[in-house]
Amino acid sequence: MHTHYDFALRGRIFTFRANPFTVGDEASYHYYEDGVLLIKLDKIVDVGSYQDFELLEQKVIQFDKNYIIMPSFIDSHLHYPQWEAIGGFGEDLLQWLDKYAFKAEAKYHDINYAKAQAKQFLLNLIDNGITAAGVYCSSHPESVEALFEAADEANLHITAGQVWMDRHAPKSIIRPAKQSYDETLALIEKWHNHGNLRYALTPRFPITSSEEQLELAQALVKKYPDLTIQSHIDENSQEVAKTLELFPKAKSYADIFDQYNLLTPRTVLGHGNLLSEEEINLLADRKSSIAHCPSSNEFLGNTPLNLFGLQCQRPDLNISLASDIGAGTSLCPWHTMAAAYRASRSHRHALSPIKALYLHTLGGAESLSIDQITGKFAPGYQADIAIINTHATRALSQRMQTVENLDEEFFVLMTLGEASTIDRLYVSGVKLK
Ligand code: GUN
Ligand code: ZN
Repeated sequence: MHTHYDFALRGRIFTFRANPFTVGDEASYHYYEDGVLLIKLDKIVDVGSYQDFELLEQKVIQFDKNYIIMPSFIDSHLHYPQWEAIGGFGEDLLQWLDKYAFKAEAKYHDINYAKAQAKQFLLNLIDNGITAAGVYCSSHPESVEALFEAADEANLHITAGQVWMDRHAPKSIIRPAKQSYDETLALIEKWHNHGNLRYALTPRFPITSSEEQLELAQALVKKYPDLTIQSHIDENSQEVAKTLELFPKAKSYADIFDQYNLLTPRTVLGHGNLLSEEEINLLADRKSSIAHCPSSNEFLGNTPLNLFGLQCQRPDLNISLASDIGAGTSLCPWHTMAAAYRASRSHRHALSPIKALYLHTLGGAESLSIDQITGKFAPGYQADIAIINTHATRALSQRMQTVENLDEEFFVLMTLGEASTIDRLYVSGVKLK
């Protein structure tokens, strides 16, 4: 077969083609033992078995059996100003926010500080093989400018927004609802759908948003129906109680969002640990998604999400995996996948490595509504590629000796993997690492 391409990657190739939660693990992916991935400019031209293509040797980059070529990772929920606050000791969610997160976020009114931090944050994403993310900035528009500017340079798929808060937080990080609205309008006009960037309307959670603010959020979504909406839901019991106290007429936490028409197919809600059956049905009916943040739940002492419970009730509820930095403890997708496995064990289930991998790649793309662009290898998709060195550390190298199949290999990567497994990373066909 003759095809036009700039370069080709040859080696073991893995990519999802469907959701393993609905079609089963085996039917959810393609795996080519001796595969090729053809790239032209920023896109994938084709993927398949080496023997089916006639390729020019000088255009082929070859990887031996210790490497896996796969779609790069997607982190659907994290807070970039909290990168510097990771490891805040000894508190539950609401106290942790006061003591650590809000203090860090208060610094991001300073555009120069925000620019320097945004660059570092994105370098850390790249180190960990992450090329797309749903990101919370601080409540200052400067923090959004800084992030989008740096992300645009690197071509990363960043969906992000100014955090909206007009109450119940320190003065330095709350602003009047109308002010955030006006600032957000300007940010949308400048950055939304610019290159790989997308704007996310980001009311932090209902505790910090007045009814007036939620009404303005509703108005903004009406004006820009293709906006992603990101917030938090049902993370811990103290937070849920306080939320319901503040919205006495609401039937549930999810109902608060629904009353303001904020549950859309583009809504990504962090956590969902304490969702009721009614709320699960509501979110699934609205096609909204949950960002499961397992290392963050462990760290804050939250009740772990019962992923299989959710899936059994509503297999159509979209779920993705997220680090939730800075309450999460690592950006490394292997670590987050391992934490998701531990959460599943705490509910007497066992999350398979294929499902965990899906949640951090194509599942993440679906939750961020970029699954027609990235998250898998298919003709016309962005060439967003991670090349995994399965022998990157001494421990991995030893453990891989006795691995018998692909599932086990991914499970060992989940258990022992580090950022150093990311041997190379391409975004839109450009090598970043
Ligand atoms: N709920 C509201 N804001 C936050 C946050 O920054 N981190 C976490 N884990 N939960 C939240
Ligand atoms: Zn969060």
